[in-house]
Amino acid sequence: MINPQVSLLNKSATLKITALTKKLIKEGKDVVNFAGGEPDFDTPLFIKEEAKSAIDKGLTKYTPSAGRIGLKEAIAAKLNQENNIKASASNVIVTSGAKYSIFVAMFSVLAPGDEVIIPSPYWVSYPEMVKLTSAKTVILPTQRANDFKIDPIELEKVITSKTKLLILNYPCNPTGVTYTKAELEAILKVVKEKNVLVLSDEIYEALVYDGREHTSFASLPGALESTITINGFSKTFSMTGWRIGYLVADENITNQASKIIDHTTSCASSISQSAALAALSNKDWQKEIRSKFQERRDLIWEGLSKFPELKPIKPQGTFYLFCDIRGSGLGSFDFATQLLEQFLTSCIPADPFGQEGYIRCSFSTSLEQITKGVNRIGEFLNSLKK
Ligand SMILES: Cc1ncc(COP(=O)(O)O)c(C=O)c1O
Repeated sequence: MINPQVSLLNKSATLKITALTKKLIKEGKDVVNFAGGEPDFDTPLFIKEEAKSAIDKGLTKYTPSAGRIGLKEAIAAKLNQENNIKASASNVIVTSGAKYSIFVAMFSVLAPGDEVIIPSPYWVSYPEMVKLTSAKTVILPTQRANDFKIDPIELEKVITSKTKLLILNYPCNPTGVTYTKAELEAILKVVKEKNVLVLSDEIYEALVYDGREHTSFASLPGALESTITINGFSKTFSMTGWRIGYLVADENITNQASKIIDHTTSCASSISQSAALAALSNKDWQKEIRSKFQERRDLIWEGLSKFPELKPIKPQGTFYLFCDIRGSGLGSFDFATQLLEQFLTSCIPADPFGQEGYIRCSFSTSLEQITKGVNRIGEFLNSLKK
């Protein structure tokens, strides 16, 4: 009765922890939440005001399926100015969240039997989306010693005649690491030689720390035509619930991909599109949240680094800290469950991200909560010694 491709999908393996977190919060328990996947800041007022005004102006009807021309032009201008990507409105498709952009991009280029290389650790949705396209996932393991970044030599080894697409995600969820321009160029050299497309998910581009600059893969010489860039408004502008993301690709791809929107969602929310256009007009907000997140990053990293049982990676971007917990003697699910049940602090076990023995801690919460959560983790680790 059920499509086998759908039966194959995994339910969110982190659901147990997030459900328990929500239950405990509902019961009034003082939970420190390091499990969240969205900025804790409210959507900025100037964006909300624009949405209200869009409703009043009657901008509440279907838009063109790939998005309103004004928004696509503003996104293209941003891509040219900030990302050094040569794009025009016809290269942009606006979708209901970046997650749907990724699905539309994959569904547009992948055929049954094609292979997709996903470096691990990875964001959980990539392999599940590949299943829906009937293509095949090939996991490319990366090493802690190399900051969990792709080794171009290892990449070359897993490419076959069937390889169609490489998934790149940086700054990376869950590891928090990002790539330098030189590292990206080394990856480009391999994929160019082997004629492999790249889907570059850069949704955390605004959240890079210590003065780092984000380099877009499509901006590298020779990368434009074979790169699909993914981005959106969820993380940069605290707009997760507004559901606006976009993909940027060669017109050969966008012309075909927009047909998927025609026959599935019709278009992204018209009101959210107005809000997104307003978001692009104000750059101050991004700088503000970046410096707040960097302060939180420092606090959580310094706190967790003090425990000999833990080996956290210092996040270079995102609001996630990836931490080796094997020194505690527990697996990641037991660690996360016991920490939550006994010390009311929730984090995400990383096994479902393709990495055993690690947890992902989100520092998208206040400095006070971070201090409290780090102290509780310390108490938890002490309790394990008894
Ligand atoms: C790596 C990555 N890509 C894409 C998304 C999807 O973002 P959106 O809310 O725009 O669908 C997320 C959200 O968690 C993410 O972590």
